[in-house]
Amino acid sequence: MYTQRYSSPNQAIPKIRPVFHFDQVSVDFGKIKALRSVQLSVLPKEILFVTGASGAGKSTLLNMMAGLVEPTSGKIHRLQDDSKFFVASVFQDLRLWQEKTCEQNMWISYDARLYDSREQFHKEMLELARVLGVYEHMNQKISDCNGGLKSKVAMIRALLSKPDALLADEPTAALDREASFRLFELLNHYNQKKGLTLVWATHNREMAKQFPGKVAHLDGGRLMYSGQACFI
Ligand SMILES: Nc1ncnc2c1ncn2[C@@H]1O[C@H](COP(=O)(O)OP(=O)(O)OP(=O)(O)O)[C@@H](O)[C@H]1O
Ligand SMILES: [Mg+2]
Repeated sequence: MYTQRYSSPNQAIPKIRPVFHFDQVSVDFGKIKALRSVQLSVLPKEILFVTGASGAGKSTLLNMMAGLVEPTSGKIHRLQDDSKFFVASVFQDLRLWQEKTCEQNMWISYDARLYDSREQFHKEMLELARVLGVYEHMNQKISDCNGGLKSKVAMIRALLSKPDALLADEPTAALDREASFRLFELLNHYNQKKGLTLVWATHNREMAKQFPGKVAHLDGGRLMYSGQACFI
C-alpha cells in the first residue's frame, strides 16, 4: 500500500498534544447556557488565566478540565484521559476537612509512590507552609482559619500531590494584593522549574494582566478573547 510520508513539510514536525482541547463546547444546565461553543486549547507548561464576571462560566470551564462536567454539545479532549498526566484542582469552595487541622488536611496528599519517605513529604510541606505563611498555623483547625489561610492550605495540599497541571478556581479571592503576588510567584516557580501547566480562574482581569501567561476571557459563556494578556 502506498503511504504518503512527507506530503507537506509540516508533517515532519512532531505535534504537541494539548493538555485540554475544547472543540465547540457548549454546556447547558437546564435553561442556563453556562458555556457556548468554546474553542480553546491549553498546551503543556502554559499558564492560562480564565477571566470573566460572576456567572461568566469560569468554574464550569475548570470543572470540565477536571472531568467533572461533560459537554452538552461539542467535544473536550483531556490529556489525563489517555495518558499518565495528573491534574490537581483547588476548587472555589476549597473542599477542606473543617474538623481537621491545616497539617492534617495537607497529609491527604501523601502518596508513597511520589516521595522517598514520609519525612521528605513533611519537609516539603513545611517549606511550602513557610513560603505562604501557614507555618505558624499548622495545628489550627480549618474551621478556625480565615478565608485566606484556608485557600493557602488548599493550594499547598494540591501542590504536594505533585500535579502535572493545576486548576485553581479564584485562589486569591480571600487574599490581599501582596499575598496574591506571593502565591503567583510560587506557582510561576513551579511552572518554570517543574513545567507545571497552570489554569487560574479569576474575576480580576487587571491582576491577570500583571502576570506572564495567556488569558481566556469569558462573557455569558462565550469565549470573547484568547491570547496574550498584554493585548487585552
Ligand atoms: N451545577 C449547576 N447547576 C445549574 N446551574 C449552574 C451549575 N453550575 C453553574 N451554573 C450556572 O452556570 C452559569 C456559569 O456558572 P459558573 O459557576 O461557571 O460561573 P463563574 O464564572 O465561575 O462565576 P463566579 O465568578 O461567580 O464563580 C451561572 O449562571 C451558574 O448559575
Ligand atoms: Mg466560579
